[in-house]
Amino acid sequence: MQVVDTIIRLFDSQGHEAYFGEPVSQREHALQAAYLAEQDGSPGWLIAAALLHDIGHLVHGQPEDLADRGGDGLHEDAGATWLAPHFGPDVVRPIRLHVAAKRYLCAVEPGYLSALSPASALSLRLQGGPMDAAEAARFASDPHHGPAIRLRRWDDRAKIPGLIVPGVEHYRKHLESAHRSQELTDQESAGPPHEAGPRANRS
Ligand SMILES: [Fe+2]
Repeated sequence: MQVVDTIIRLFDSQGHEAYFGEPVSQREHALQAAYLAEQDGSPGWLIAAALLHDIGHLVHGQPEDLADRGGDGLHEDAGATWLAPHFGPDVVRPIRLHVAAKRYLCAVEPGYLSALSPASALSLRLQGGPMDAAEAARFASDPHHGPAIRLRRWDDRAKIPGLIVPGVEHYRKHLESAHRSQELTDQESAGPPHEAGPRANRS
């Protein structure tokens, strides 16, 4: 479970960084998103996705004022790519789609855009603005779009200063279980153990 320990260390070492113009740190934001997912009765893999959805900011080390300076760091792709060797598509795909989910909701849900925080509205422009009809249809056809939208709504709410929620260790069981499922899938697709090769040993 090396990757789970690495993730927990990342939150411990870099999670104090500010969350892009919001009144919470990266760690507070991630923990609140995971807490909201758990409160909604979500499965463990989706709680793990909520916790990890912005890990691209931590693995990338982007400056906190990136949006103010006119850059889009594509943190959703950075995070999903970093996680993909260790977690299955149920976890990784909603993370890759969570910015697209914001652009989708802006296009299809009256009032969604106007309720975005100022920082989120600013980054929306850098992310391409609301989807057009063709983009929205394409997004809605992705089998992971439903979980991505759920994740997005927790993301939008996970900005409450001072909210007391469980720490990262509380979610270790979900991270380990999602990681273990992916290892089993890898082993099944690699064949019997003597044919599995190095992929079966990765963590
Ligand atoms: Fe977020």
